[in-house]
Amino acid sequence: MAVKAAARNFAQNVLKPGVIERDKNAKFATEEIKQLGQLGFLGMMVDPKYGGGGMDTVSYVLAMEEISKVDASVAVCMSVCNSLVNWGLERFGSEDQKMKFLAPIARGEKIGAFCLSEPEAGSDATSQRTTAEDKGDYYLLNGTKNWITNGSSASIYIVFAQSNKEAGHRGINALIVERGMEGFIVGEKEDKMGIRSSDTHTLIFNDVKVPKENRVGEEGFGFKFAMQTLGGGRIGIASQAMGIASGALELAVAYAAERKTFGKELHKHQAIAFKLADMATRVEAARLLTLRAASLKDQKLEFTEEASMAKLFASEIAQFVTTEAVQIHGGYGYVREYHVERLMRDAKITQIYEGTSEIQKIVISRAILAD
Ligand code: CAA
Repeated sequence: MAVKAAARNFAQNVLKPGVIERDKNAKFATEEIKQLGQLGFLGMMVDPKYGGGGMDTVSYVLAMEEISKVDASVAVCMSVCNSLVNWGLERFGSEDQKMKFLAPIARGEKIGAFCLSEPEAGSDATSQRTTAEDKGDYYLLNGTKNWITNGSSASIYIVFAQSNKEAGHRGINALIVERGMEGFIVGEKEDKMGIRSSDTHTLIFNDVKVPKENRVGEEGFGFKFAMQTLGGGRIGIASQAMGIASGALELAVAYAAERKTFGKELHKHQAIAFKLADMATRVEAARLLTLRAASLKDQKLEFTEEASMAKLFASEIAQFVTTEAVQIHGGYGYVREYHVERLMRDAKITQIYEGTSEIQKIVISRAILAD
């Protein structure tokens, strides 16, 4: 609970003051994320021998909720670093890769990015067009990645690329690309509906020479690396969605207690009290599903299906809860100053990234039918 309190304190005192302006100007929270890293929130679950906090996934969910209540753009940076980049490197990386690439992220000195999506490979992730041609002691990397979170702020990028087309998904490799490698270009920044202050970019690779020692795992292990890592990533995004919903609920409860209509506080109207009850019930259900997936992961039990269920449900209820929060605020809810309109815009992406709701249903239904 100390972790939750520390995250709440940071979110309310450091993130909240500038969140409206950052969203308005699509400005990355450079200073705030630096502080977040110094406090250890970018390497929460990493073994202390690699500079991390050695915490469990449950603590990570609690911290993600508090950060997401206030600034979902900062939360997605935190989620990608912790559950996609760090976890994958710690689980599958070599000792040298852990010292060189994982430790600086875990210590909060560098930011990581996970580069799977392409113009024609979003949901259909096996259709990678980016190529990594084997040239002996290096791979020659060519292609384009789209919608990459931390695109311009990261220094360490895990890039998925096809090295053997005939082998299909078994020919995909996961390569670590460093900022500054020749031929690596950070392309256009996306102008987004929500999470506007997170830096989402296109990345271009033109004949980038990636040393063989930067491949994570065995030759052709890249797709399995991506799938296993995304399982944990989905717990991060479930926490983000649940946090957005829980932040909107807190704001709606406070507003309903202070605003009066027809001679009494809003919450004394049954129409509003019942809305709050529905919102609170769904937030609690999302929290429990997310904590369940986290707890299974902590016990080293299979959690893929449960992570997808948590992500699916939390992102769906985030739509409902944030929309109701705007409704309760009435006209005030439609303007920036009251925060809920931003939360409603931010909620939408949680149904799309790290696997759309439809992809989660594929994962869940396949797991049920295989039982
Ligand atoms: N763990 C380990 N291996 C897995 C796995 C898992 N959870 N899921 C699948 N695999 C393996 C399969 O066993 C199979 O390997 P074999 O053939 O050797 O047995 C291989 O992967 C291919 O699996 P499928 O046949 O099931 O592949 P598919 O084409 O039907 O697709 C999918 C599966 C689940 C739909 C997958 O494509 C998918 O998850 N798509 C969504 C991609 C996604 O989530 N992208 C998010 C981008 S990252 C992001 O958004 C980060 C951010 O910025 C916030």
